[in-house]
Amino acid sequence: MKIIEPNSSAEFEQYYALRYEVLRKPWLQPKGSEKDDGDKSSIHRMIINEESGEAVAVGRLHFNSDEEAQIRYMAVSDKYQLKGYGNIIVKALEDIALKKKCKNIILQARENALKFYSKNGYEIIEKSYLLFDEIQHWLMEKELTTD
Ligand SMILES: CC(C)(COP(=O)(O)OP(=O)(O)OC[C@H]1O[C@@H](n2cnc3c(N)ncnc32)[C@H](O)[C@@H]1OP(=O)(O)O)[C@@H](O)C(=O)NCCC(=O)NCCS
Repeated sequence: MKIIEPNSSAEFEQYYALRYEVLRKPWLQPKGSEKDDGDKSSIHRMIINEESGEAVAVGRLHFNSDEEAQIRYMAVSDKYQLKGYGNIIVKALEDIALKKKCKNIILQARENALKFYSKNGYEIIEKSYLLFDEIQHWLMEKELTTD
């Protein structure tokens, strides 16, 4: 396995395909709904299985201000879930935020991912919005420290 910053159009194709597969397709959302206007100015990471060439996990980081970063679109391919790849993506995105001297990271967690983020040190701030009329989200935050 290796973690990369997607660069070529083929890599971005794999990146968005995994986002779609995990975060949109199960709710019958149209192709294209996995992308947004913030993607161009965001930082992306993807874990690739070097043997098969498959995309294993993806995640995105953007900056809300000089001090605050936000993680979005975390997705691990079904068959690779619960093997530590989500952790690797979150840590890589946190490292980038730390290097930019951000003080905190926020995210909107799907209810099913609350335990995953709390294991990564994120705390619930408040119940937020309902996606597709059924997926409850929770605003979570983590203060960044260098230790
Ligand atoms: C949520 C998700 C990103 C987590 O990635 P992952 O690779 O499966 O998780 P990891 O294997 O890195 O798990 C890290 C820790 O969180 C725990 N964890 C992960 N998902 C969990 C879950 N659904 N329930 C309970 N604990 C969970 C793991 O047990 C592990 O704990 P440990 O360190 O004590 O062993 C991934 O499962 C996923 O893509 N889910 C579907 C899409 C989704 O909900 N994305 C998040 C949108 S906000």
